[in-house]
Amino acid sequence: MKPDRETDTDVWLTVHAQPGETQILPGAKTKTWGYNQSLLGQTIVFRSGKTYHVTLKNSLPELTTFHWHGLDVPGPFIDGGCHAPIYPGEEKEITFTVNQPAATTWLHAHPCPLTGWDVWHGLAAMVYVEDDHEDSLALPHDYGVDDLPIVLQDRRFHEDNQWDYDADYDPDGTAGPTALINGTVNPSFDVTTPKLRLRFLDGSNRREWRLHLSDDLIMTQIASDGGLLPEPVQMTKCMLTCAERAEFIIDFSDYKAGDQVTLYPDVDPNALVHQVVLAGTDEEITINGLKFGMMRIDDRQEIGKTEYWDITNTNDCCGGMIHPYHMHGGSFQIVSRNGESPYPNELGYKDTVAVNPGETVRIKMKFNFAGVFMYHCHIIEHEDGGMMAQMQVYTPEEPEKKYDLMAMDTLMNALAEERGCTVEDLQIKSLDSYKKMGMDMC
Ligand code: C2O
Ligand code: CU
Ligand code: CU
Repeated sequence: MKPDRETDTDVWLTVHAQPGETQILPGAKTKTWGYNQSLLGQTIVFRSGKTYHVTLKNSLPELTTFHWHGLDVPGPFIDGGCHAPIYPGEEKEITFTVNQPAATTWLHAHPCPLTGWDVWHGLAAMVYVEDDHEDSLALPHDYGVDDLPIVLQDRRFHEDNQWDYDADYDPDGTAGPTALINGTVNPSFDVTTPKLRLRFLDGSNRREWRLHLSDDLIMTQIASDGGLLPEPVQMTKCMLTCAERAEFIIDFSDYKAGDQVTLYPDVDPNALVHQVVLAGTDEEITINGLKFGMMRIDDRQEIGKTEYWDITNTNDCCGGMIHPYHMHGGSFQIVSRNGESPYPNELGYKDTVAVNPGETVRIKMKFNFAGVFMYHCHIIEHEDGGMMAQMQVYTPEEPEKKYDLMAMDTLMNALAEERGCTVEDLQIKSLDSYKKMGMDMC
Protein backbone atom coordinates (compact mmCIF):
# COMPACT_ATOMS: atom_id res chain seq x y z
CA MET A 1 0.00 0.00 0.00
CA LYS A 2 1.40 3.34 -1.00
CA PRO A 3 1.37 6.03 1.67
CA ASP A 4 -0.59 9.24 1.03
CA ARG A 5 2.36 11.28 2.21
CA GLU A 6 5.52 10.78 4.23
CA THR A 7 8.35 12.53 6.03
CA ASP A 8 11.45 11.01 7.68
CA THR A 9 9.49 10.31 10.84
CA ASP A 10 5.80 10.25 9.92
CA VAL A 11 3.66 8.45 7.38
CA TRP A 12 0.05 9.10 6.34
CA LEU A 13 -2.02 6.21 4.99
CA THR A 14 -5.66 5.59 4.15
CA VAL A 15 -7.21 2.21 4.76
CA HIS A 16 -10.52 2.05 2.98
CA ALA A 17 -13.00 -0.75 3.68
CA GLN A 18 -15.09 -1.12 0.55
CA PRO A 19 -17.44 -3.49 -1.22
CA GLY A 20 -16.53 -4.85 -4.63
CA GLU A 21 -16.66 -7.78 -7.00
CA THR A 22 -13.84 -10.21 -7.63
CA GLN A 23 -13.22 -12.73 -10.38
CA ILE A 24 -12.30 -15.80 -8.37
CA LEU A 25 -13.90 -18.61 -10.37
CA PRO A 26 -14.71 -18.65 -14.09
CA GLY A 27 -18.15 -17.15 -14.73
CA ALA A 28 -19.84 -14.70 -12.42
CA LYS A 29 -17.77 -12.47 -10.20
CA THR A 30 -18.11 -12.95 -6.44
CA LYS A 31 -19.39 -10.08 -4.27
CA THR A 32 -16.59 -9.41 -1.83
CA TRP A 33 -15.25 -6.85 0.62
CA GLY A 34 -11.70 -5.57 0.89
CA TYR A 35 -9.33 -2.85 1.98
CA ASN A 36 -8.50 -0.41 -0.86
CA GLN A 37 -9.45 -3.16 -3.31
CA SER A 38 -12.29 -5.56 -3.85
CA LEU A 39 -10.99 -8.50 -1.79
CA LEU A 40 -8.53 -8.76 1.13
CA GLY A 41 -6.12 -5.83 1.05
CA GLN A 42 -2.90 -4.39 -0.21
CA THR A 43 -0.01 -5.32 2.05
CA ILE A 44 0.73 -2.57 4.55
CA VAL A 45 4.38 -2.10 5.48
CA PHE A 46 5.30 -0.37 8.72
CA ARG A 47 8.79 0.65 9.77
CA SER A 48 9.58 0.28 13.45
CA GLY A 49 10.24 3.71 14.97
CA LYS A 50 7.97 5.67 12.63
CA THR A 51 4.69 7.33 13.52
CA TYR A 52 1.66 6.48 11.43
CA HIS A 53 -1.44 8.56 10.84
CA VAL A 54 -3.96 6.13 9.45
CA THR A 55 -7.27 7.30 8.07
CA LEU A 56 -9.82 4.53 8.52
CA LYS A 57 -12.57 4.91 5.98
CA ASN A 58 -15.72 2.85 5.71
CA SER A 59 -17.68 2.66 2.45
CA LEU A 60 -19.36 -0.61 3.38
CA PRO A 61 -23.12 -0.65 3.90
CA GLU A 62 -22.54 -1.30 7.60
CA LEU A 63 -20.26 -0.55 10.51
CA THR A 64 -16.92 -2.27 10.89
CA THR A 65 -13.75 -1.92 12.95
CA PHE A 66 -10.05 -2.07 12.00
CA HIS A 67 -8.08 -4.35 14.31
CA TRP A 68 -4.28 -4.41 14.13
CA HIS A 69 -3.70 -8.02 15.12
CA GLY A 70 -0.16 -8.37 16.47
CA LEU A 71 0.71 -4.67 16.62
CA ASP A 72 1.75 -3.37 19.99
CA VAL A 73 -0.51 -0.30 20.17
CA PRO A 74 -2.82 1.19 22.83
CA GLY A 75 -6.34 -0.17 23.37
CA PRO A 76 -9.22 -0.15 22.99
CA PHE A 77 -9.60 2.47 20.23
CA ILE A 78 -6.36 2.29 18.24
CA ASP A 79 -6.21 -1.48 18.67
CA GLY A 80 -9.53 -1.49 16.83
CA GLY A 81 -11.50 -4.20 18.61
CA CYS A 82 -15.27 -3.96 19.06
CA HIS A 83 -15.17 -0.64 20.93
CA ALA A 84 -13.95 1.25 17.88
CA PRO A 85 -16.67 1.17 15.21
CA ILE A 86 -16.40 3.23 12.06
CA TYR A 87 -19.92 3.73 10.74
CA PRO A 88 -20.81 3.62 7.03
CA GLY A 89 -19.67 6.72 5.19
CA GLU A 90 -17.48 7.73 8.12
CA GLU A 91 -13.74 8.17 8.37
CA LYS A 92 -11.49 8.62 11.38
CA GLU A 93 -7.77 9.16 11.82
CA ILE A 94 -5.75 7.20 14.35
CA THR A 95 -2.12 7.92 15.20
CA PHE A 96 0.37 5.49 16.66
CA THR A 97 4.08 4.81 16.70
CA VAL A 98 5.23 1.37 15.65
CA ASN A 99 7.81 0.13 18.08
CA GLN A 100 8.42 -3.59 17.88
CA PRO A 101 10.70 -6.06 16.12
CA ALA A 102 10.14 -6.96 12.46
CA ALA A 103 7.18 -9.33 12.11
CA THR A 104 4.31 -10.43 9.94
CA THR A 105 1.10 -9.17 11.52
CA TRP A 106 -2.32 -8.51 10.01
CA LEU A 107 -5.31 -6.25 9.86
CA HIS A 108 -8.85 -7.58 10.15
CA ALA A 109 -12.34 -6.40 10.97
CA HIS A 110 -13.45 -7.03 14.57
CA PRO A 111 -17.02 -5.78 15.17
CA CYS A 112 -18.86 -7.87 17.74
CA PRO A 113 -20.57 -10.17 16.90
CA LEU A 114 -19.91 -9.79 13.19
CA THR A 115 -16.21 -10.51 12.94
CA GLY A 116 -16.90 -13.85 11.24
CA TRP A 117 -19.20 -12.21 8.72
CA ASP A 118 -16.75 -9.42 7.92
CA VAL A 119 -13.68 -11.62 7.61
CA TRP A 120 -15.60 -14.16 5.49
CA HIS A 121 -16.48 -11.35 3.08
CA GLY A 122 -12.80 -10.45 2.74
CA LEU A 123 -11.79 -7.95 5.41
CA ALA A 124 -8.25 -9.14 6.13
CA ALA A 125 -4.87 -7.82 4.99
CA MET A 126 -1.21 -8.54 5.63
CA VAL A 127 0.73 -6.03 7.71
CA TYR A 128 4.51 -6.25 7.78
CA VAL A 129 6.68 -4.59 10.39
CA GLU A 130 10.25 -3.97 9.25
CA ASP A 131 13.31 -2.90 11.24
CA ASP A 132 17.06 -2.34 10.78
CA HIS A 133 18.06 -5.58 12.46
CA GLU A 134 16.04 -7.76 10.13
CA ASP A 135 17.20 -5.68 7.13
CA SER A 136 20.79 -6.49 8.05
CA LEU A 137 20.23 -10.27 7.88
CA ALA A 138 20.74 -12.25 4.71
CA LEU A 139 17.03 -12.98 4.27
CA PRO A 140 15.00 -12.72 1.07
CA HIS A 141 13.42 -9.27 1.03
CA ASP A 142 12.25 -8.55 -2.47
CA TYR A 143 8.49 -8.26 -2.18
CA GLY A 144 6.66 -10.38 -4.75
CA VAL A 145 9.93 -11.83 -6.08
CA ASP A 146 11.47 -13.87 -3.28
CA ASP A 147 9.33 -12.66 -0.35
CA LEU A 148 5.64 -13.52 -0.62
CA PRO A 149 2.61 -13.05 1.61
CA ILE A 150 0.34 -16.10 1.65
CA VAL A 151 -3.12 -15.73 3.14
CA LEU A 152 -4.78 -19.12 3.61
CA GLN A 153 -8.57 -19.22 3.67
CA ASP A 154 -11.40 -21.48 2.59
CA ARG A 155 -14.86 -20.75 1.19
CA ARG A 156 -17.92 -22.44 -0.22
CA PHE A 157 -19.19 -21.03 -3.52
CA HIS A 158 -22.97 -21.11 -3.96
CA GLU A 159 -25.10 -20.27 -6.97
CA ASP A 160 -23.55 -17.70 -9.32
CA ASN A 161 -20.25 -18.08 -7.51
CA GLN A 162 -21.52 -16.15 -4.48
CA TRP A 163 -20.62 -16.65 -0.84
CA ASP A 164 -23.43 -17.17 1.65
CA TYR A 165 -22.12 -16.78 5.16
CA ASP A 166 -25.46 -17.40 6.84
CA ALA A 167 -26.06 -20.61 4.91
CA ASP A 168 -22.61 -21.91 5.79
CA TYR A 169 -22.57 -20.57 9.34
CA ASP A 170 -21.41 -23.05 11.97
CA PRO A 171 -21.12 -21.99 15.60
CA ASP A 172 -17.95 -24.06 15.81
CA GLY A 173 -16.45 -22.09 12.96
CA THR A 174 -17.48 -21.57 9.38
CA ALA A 175 -15.57 -23.45 6.72
CA GLY A 176 -15.83 -24.30 3.04
CA PRO A 177 -14.41 -26.91 0.65
CA THR A 178 -12.46 -24.57 -1.66
CA ALA A 179 -9.00 -23.44 -0.62
CA LEU A 180 -8.15 -19.82 -1.37
CA ILE A 181 -4.60 -18.52 -1.41
CA ASN A 182 -4.52 -14.73 -1.40
CA GLY A 183 -8.10 -14.85 -2.61
CA THR A 184 -7.32 -17.04 -5.61
CA VAL A 185 -7.92 -20.71 -6.40
CA ASN A 186 -5.02 -23.01 -7.30
CA PRO A 187 -2.44 -20.30 -7.98
CA SER A 188 1.10 -20.98 -9.10
CA PHE A 189 4.21 -18.86 -8.74
CA ASP A 190 7.41 -18.79 -10.80
CA VAL A 191 10.37 -19.19 -8.49
CA THR A 192 13.31 -17.24 -9.92
CA THR A 193 15.67 -17.22 -6.94
CA PRO A 194 17.32 -20.12 -5.08
CA LYS A 195 15.62 -19.10 -1.85
CA LEU A 196 12.04 -18.12 -1.34
CA ARG A 197 10.52 -16.60 1.77
CA LEU A 198 6.87 -17.47 2.35
CA ARG A 199 4.95 -15.58 5.00
CA PHE A 200 1.88 -17.60 5.87
CA LEU A 201 -1.18 -16.29 7.65
CA ASP A 202 -4.05 -18.54 8.63
CA GLY A 203 -6.79 -16.05 7.79
CA SER A 204 -9.60 -18.58 7.92
CA ASN A 205 -12.56 -18.46 10.24
CA ARG A 206 -12.05 -21.93 11.66
CA ARG A 207 -9.72 -24.12 9.64
CA GLU A 208 -6.29 -25.19 10.78
CA TRP A 209 -3.90 -25.74 7.89
CA ARG A 210 -1.42 -28.59 7.78
CA LEU A 211 1.26 -27.48 5.36
CA HIS A 212 3.83 -29.48 3.52
CA LEU A 213 5.58 -29.36 0.16
CA SER A 214 5.90 -32.03 -2.48
CA ASP A 215 9.14 -34.09 -2.32
CA ASP A 216 8.99 -33.45 1.43
CA LEU A 217 11.01 -30.35 0.69
CA ILE A 218 12.35 -28.90 3.91
CA MET A 219 10.65 -25.76 5.17
CA THR A 220 12.88 -23.73 7.45
CA GLN A 221 10.80 -21.64 9.80
CA ILE A 222 12.49 -18.36 10.68
CA ALA A 223 9.67 -16.43 12.29
CA SER A 224 6.33 -16.86 14.01
CA ASP A 225 3.63 -14.35 15.03
CA GLY A 226 5.82 -11.80 16.78
CA GLY A 227 8.94 -11.98 14.59
CA LEU A 228 12.15 -13.96 14.23
CA LEU A 229 12.64 -17.18 16.17
CA PRO A 230 15.71 -17.52 18.43
CA GLU A 231 16.98 -19.93 15.78
CA PRO A 232 15.64 -21.40 12.54
CA VAL A 233 13.67 -24.65 12.82
CA GLN A 234 13.61 -27.17 9.99
CA MET A 235 10.50 -29.23 9.28
CA THR A 236 8.60 -30.90 6.49
CA LYS A 237 5.14 -30.31 7.97
CA CYS A 238 3.65 -27.48 9.95
CA MET A 239 0.23 -26.79 11.40
CA LEU A 240 -1.15 -23.26 11.57
CA THR A 241 -4.34 -22.48 13.50
CA CYS A 242 -6.56 -19.44 12.97
CA ALA A 243 -4.66 -16.13 13.03
CA GLU A 244 -1.22 -17.70 13.46
CA ARG A 245 1.63 -16.66 11.18
CA ALA A 246 4.78 -18.52 10.19
CA GLU A 247 7.59 -17.44 7.89
CA PHE A 248 9.52 -20.10 6.02
CA ILE A 249 12.58 -20.09 3.81
CA ILE A 250 12.39 -22.72 1.11
CA ASP A 251 15.66 -23.64 -0.58
CA PHE A 252 15.11 -24.44 -4.25
CA SER A 253 18.78 -24.75 -5.22
CA ASP A 254 18.39 -28.46 -6.04
CA TYR A 255 15.69 -27.69 -8.61
CA LYS A 256 16.13 -26.66 -12.22
CA ALA A 257 14.01 -24.50 -14.47
CA GLY A 258 10.67 -26.12 -15.23
CA ASP A 259 10.55 -28.31 -12.10
CA GLN A 260 7.41 -28.04 -10.06
CA VAL A 261 6.91 -28.02 -6.33
CA THR A 262 3.42 -28.16 -4.89
CA LEU A 263 2.23 -26.73 -1.63
CA TYR A 264 -0.41 -28.94 -0.07
CA PRO A 265 -2.71 -27.11 2.28
CA ASP A 266 -5.03 -29.72 3.71
CA VAL A 267 -8.24 -28.98 1.76
CA ASP A 268 -9.41 -31.28 -0.97
CA PRO A 269 -11.67 -29.09 -3.10
CA ASN A 270 -13.85 -32.12 -3.88
CA ALA A 271 -14.20 -33.39 -0.36
CA LEU A 272 -17.49 -33.22 1.46
CA VAL A 273 -17.34 -30.93 4.45
CA HIS A 274 -18.62 -32.84 7.44
CA GLN A 275 -19.95 -30.69 10.21
CA VAL A 276 -19.00 -32.22 13.53
CA VAL A 277 -20.87 -30.66 16.42
CA LEU A 278 -19.34 -31.30 19.78
CA ALA A 279 -21.36 -31.25 22.97
CA GLY A 280 -20.21 -28.51 25.25
CA THR A 281 -18.69 -26.71 22.31
CA ASP A 282 -21.09 -25.39 19.67
CA GLU A 283 -23.34 -22.64 21.01
CA GLU A 284 -22.51 -23.59 24.57
CA ILE A 285 -19.01 -22.25 24.19
CA THR A 286 -17.92 -20.08 27.06
CA ILE A 287 -14.78 -18.53 28.43
CA ASN A 288 -14.36 -18.90 32.16
CA GLY A 289 -17.99 -20.04 32.30
CA LEU A 290 -19.27 -16.85 30.69
CA LYS A 291 -20.10 -15.30 27.37
CA PHE A 292 -18.39 -12.08 26.31
CA GLY A 293 -19.72 -8.92 27.91
CA MET A 294 -18.67 -5.76 26.13
CA MET A 295 -19.07 -3.63 29.24
CA ARG A 296 -17.47 -6.12 31.61
CA ILE A 297 -13.79 -6.20 32.51
CA ASP A 298 -12.85 -9.81 33.23
CA ASP A 299 -9.27 -9.48 34.29
CA ARG A 300 -6.59 -6.91 35.00
CA GLN A 301 -2.85 -6.68 34.63
CA GLU A 302 -0.43 -3.91 35.45
CA ILE A 303 1.47 -2.28 32.61
CA GLY A 304 5.09 -3.41 32.25
CA LYS A 305 4.77 -6.44 34.57
CA THR A 306 5.27 -9.92 33.17
CA GLU A 307 2.65 -12.40 34.33
CA TYR A 308 1.74 -15.99 33.45
CA TRP A 309 -1.53 -17.02 31.88
CA ASP A 310 -2.63 -20.69 31.84
CA ILE A 311 -4.88 -21.43 28.92
CA THR A 312 -6.82 -24.67 29.35
CA ASN A 313 -8.91 -26.37 26.73
CA THR A 314 -11.26 -28.72 28.58
CA ASN A 315 -11.81 -31.89 26.64
CA ASP A 316 -15.60 -31.76 26.54
CA CYS A 317 -16.41 -34.88 24.57
CA CYS A 318 -15.88 -36.53 21.20
CA GLY A 319 -12.26 -35.45 21.18
CA GLY A 320 -13.01 -31.75 21.74
CA MET A 321 -11.63 -29.02 19.48
CA ILE A 322 -8.42 -27.10 19.11
CA HIS A 323 -8.96 -23.51 20.27
CA PRO A 324 -6.47 -21.00 18.85
CA TYR A 325 -6.08 -18.61 21.78
CA HIS A 326 -5.26 -14.97 21.00
CA MET A 327 -4.55 -11.90 23.09
CA HIS A 328 -4.70 -8.30 21.95
CA GLY A 329 -2.15 -5.87 23.30
CA GLY A 330 1.16 -7.37 22.24
CA SER A 331 2.97 -10.66 22.03
CA PHE A 332 3.58 -13.39 24.58
CA GLN A 333 6.00 -16.25 25.08
CA ILE A 334 4.93 -19.84 25.48
CA VAL A 335 6.29 -21.36 28.64
CA SER A 336 4.90 -24.88 28.52
CA ARG A 337 2.30 -27.27 27.18
CA ASN A 338 0.90 -29.49 29.91
CA GLY A 339 4.07 -28.82 31.85
CA GLU A 340 6.34 -29.95 28.98
CA SER A 341 8.47 -27.67 26.82
CA PRO A 342 6.72 -25.99 23.90
CA TYR A 343 7.49 -27.01 20.31
CA PRO A 344 10.79 -25.63 18.91
CA ASN A 345 8.99 -23.32 16.49
CA GLU A 346 7.07 -21.77 19.38
CA LEU A 347 10.09 -20.31 21.10
CA GLY A 348 9.69 -16.87 19.57
CA TYR A 349 7.05 -14.24 20.33
CA LYS A 350 3.50 -15.28 19.55
CA ASP A 351 0.09 -13.67 19.78
CA THR A 352 -1.96 -16.73 18.91
CA VAL A 353 -1.38 -20.25 20.18
CA ALA A 354 -3.10 -23.54 19.39
CA VAL A 355 -4.45 -25.10 22.59
CA ASN A 356 -5.26 -28.76 22.01
CA PRO A 357 -8.14 -30.56 23.73
CA GLY A 358 -7.27 -31.47 27.28
CA GLU A 359 -4.24 -29.24 27.29
CA THR A 360 -3.06 -26.34 29.41
CA VAL A 361 -0.69 -23.94 27.73
CA ARG A 362 1.18 -21.56 29.99
CA ILE A 363 2.21 -18.27 28.46
CA LYS A 364 3.89 -15.22 29.84
CA MET A 365 2.78 -11.79 28.80
CA LYS A 366 3.82 -8.22 29.41
CA PHE A 367 1.81 -5.21 28.22
CA ASN A 368 3.45 -2.01 27.05
CA PHE A 369 0.28 0.06 26.83
CA ALA A 370 -2.59 0.70 29.19
CA GLY A 371 -6.06 0.08 27.85
CA VAL A 372 -8.81 -2.45 27.47
CA PHE A 373 -7.83 -5.46 25.39
CA MET A 374 -9.73 -8.52 24.24
CA TYR A 375 -8.59 -12.11 24.53
CA HIS A 376 -10.41 -14.91 22.80
CA CYS A 377 -10.54 -18.07 20.78
CA HIS A 378 -9.64 -17.08 17.21
CA ILE A 379 -12.02 -19.53 15.60
CA ILE A 380 -13.93 -16.48 14.56
CA GLU A 381 -17.41 -17.90 15.22
CA HIS A 382 -16.31 -18.87 18.72
CA GLU A 383 -15.22 -15.29 19.22
CA ASP A 384 -18.51 -13.93 17.81
CA GLY A 385 -20.44 -16.53 19.82
CA GLY A 386 -18.94 -15.25 23.05
CA MET A 387 -15.71 -17.18 23.68
CA MET A 388 -14.10 -13.85 24.36
CA ALA A 389 -13.26 -11.75 27.39
CA GLN A 390 -11.42 -8.50 28.03
CA MET A 391 -8.91 -7.19 30.46
CA GLN A 392 -7.77 -3.82 31.60
CA VAL A 393 -4.09 -3.03 31.56
CA TYR A 394 -3.64 -0.30 34.15
CA THR A 395 -0.94 2.08 35.28
CA PRO A 396 -0.18 2.47 39.01
CA GLU A 397 -1.21 6.15 38.69
CA GLU A 398 -4.65 5.38 37.28
CA PRO A 399 -5.57 1.86 38.36
CA GLU A 400 -9.31 2.46 37.91
CA LYS A 401 -9.27 4.48 34.71
CA LYS A 402 -12.67 4.39 32.98
CA TYR A 403 -12.78 3.86 29.24
CA ASP A 404 -15.72 4.82 27.12
CA LEU A 405 -16.68 1.25 26.23
CA MET A 406 -19.22 0.53 23.55
CA ALA A 407 -22.30 -1.45 24.56
CA MET A 408 -23.41 -4.21 22.22
CA ASP A 409 -26.84 -2.47 22.12
CA THR A 410 -25.28 0.61 20.54
CA LEU A 411 -23.79 -1.50 17.78
CA MET A 412 -27.00 -3.49 17.30
CA ASN A 413 -29.09 -0.33 16.95
CA ALA A 414 -26.67 1.14 14.42
CA LEU A 415 -26.66 -2.09 12.47
CA ALA A 416 -30.45 -2.33 12.44
CA GLU A 417 -30.60 1.16 11.02
CA GLU A 418 -27.97 0.33 8.38
CA ARG A 419 -29.82 -2.81 7.38
CA GLY A 420 -33.21 -1.09 7.54
CA CYS A 421 -34.82 -3.42 10.04
CA THR A 422 -35.56 -3.64 13.76
CA VAL A 423 -33.05 -5.01 16.24
CA GLU A 424 -35.34 -8.03 16.72
CA ASP A 425 -35.21 -8.74 12.98
CA LEU A 426 -31.43 -8.58 12.68
CA GLN A 427 -30.40 -12.01 11.49
CA ILE A 428 -27.07 -12.47 13.22
CA LYS A 429 -26.36 -16.11 13.65
CA SER A 430 -23.73 -15.78 16.30
CA LEU A 431 -26.21 -14.10 18.63
CA ASP A 432 -28.14 -17.38 18.95
CA SER A 433 -25.21 -18.58 20.96
CA TYR A 434 -25.95 -15.94 23.58
CA LYS A 435 -29.70 -16.47 23.47
CA LYS A 436 -29.40 -20.22 23.86
CA MET A 437 -27.40 -19.77 27.02
CA GLY A 438 -29.86 -17.17 28.31
CA MET A 439 -27.07 -14.61 28.44
CA ASP A 440 -27.15 -11.00 27.58
CA MET A 441 -24.27 -9.57 25.63
CA CYS A 442 -24.56 -6.07 26.91
CU1 C2O B 1 -7.25 -11.22 15.28
CU2 C2O B 1 -9.34 -10.19 18.59
O1 C2O B 1 -8.22 -10.63 16.95
CU1 CU C 1 -5.93 -9.34 17.80
CU1 CU D 1 -12.66 -22.11 20.00
